[in-house]
Amino acid sequence: MKTKLTDLLGIEYPIIQGAMAVVSNSTLAVAVSEAGGAGIIGAGGHDVQWVIDEVTKAKSMTKKPFGANIVLMAEQKEAIIDAVCQLKPKFVTFGAGNPVPYIEKIKKAGIIAIPVVANLKQAKKVEAAGADGIVIEGLEAGGHIGRVTLMALMTNIIPNVAIPVIAAGGIVDNRGLKAALAMGASGVQMGSRFFVSEECPAHVNAKLKVVEATDLDSVVLGHTIRHDVRGIRSRFTDEYLKIEFSDAPRSSLSGRMKGVYAKAVCDGDVENGFIQIGQSLDPIKSILSCKEIIKNMIQG
Ligand SMILES: Cc1cc2nc3c(=O)[nH]c(=O)nc-3n(C[C@H](O)[C@H](O)[C@H](O)COP(=O)(O)O)c2cc1C
Repeated sequence: MKTKLTDLLGIEYPIIQGAMAVVSNSTLAVAVSEAGGAGIIGAGGHDVQWVIDEVTKAKSMTKKPFGANIVLMAEQKEAIIDAVCQLKPKFVTFGAGNPVPYIEKIKKAGIIAIPVVANLKQAKKVEAAGADGIVIEGLEAGGHIGRVTLMALMTNIIPNVAIPVIAAGGIVDNRGLKAALAMGASGVQMGSRFFVSEECPAHVNAKLKVVEATDLDSVVLGHTIRHDVRGIRSRFTDEYLKIEFSDAPRSSLSGRMKGVYAKAVCDGDVENGFIQIGQSLDPIKSILSCKEIIKNMIQG
């Protein structure tokens, strides 16, 4: 397949594996890149040495292009950006923060800069700052989300920017890819579908919980403190939401989220933890290899 995204990244299919804090390591990224998409090593939840080790490992495992994701809330973000500029993955995506001050530095290092945005204003701002492409992420997505659906983002943003647009949020099969291309996107980014892959290092309990989940099992925490995070309903989320929509002080909320994602995806405690995952859950029926996932995406 040929789109503006496949040309930009030099990949076979217009499919990016979204960064997933803690679990998107070199094994997952290389599996996606070797299957013809573009894998991403996610710095979220890790220190700078981990990023250096994983990007170096990925470089030794594949000649195919892959990327790195920098979470702009991270304490070590400056050091991670410096390390990534030295290691030069093909591209960088940015999440959770303002990427504008870093775009020029990334591009000067010869790396393609692709910020993740959640509204038209951000899209125009990063394009003006020199972004090579953008991921537009709808509120259907897993993880930290904005407040606009992917359909509305595609409708609002695609006609108003010239750089390639990658659609993210709720895309898990080839119908989603076709819909995004029909809307004028140049490709898609998927997180949830690759979370439930053989190569993803998440705990098997977490993957199976996603396989069993259906649409109404998706919940958003932190809406009232403007820190929306989407994931799977659990004992923890029931308790959190009870407090969130009570008269309890807002200050008691954000601290409660600390450690619960790792509890689910690393320790496998899916009831007292919180798996970040998107809304399109029903088609995710089994744990597949990244190669099978990409093959299913491009069939038909
Ligand atoms: C478990 C999980 C963790 C995520 N962590 C990050 C992250 O660290 N940085 C980031 O930019 N996006 C993160 N995301 C968002 C994904 O990169 C991607 O945009 C999103 O999953 C797309 O929506 P989907 O889950 O419906 O496919 C995460 C998503 C999931 C499911």
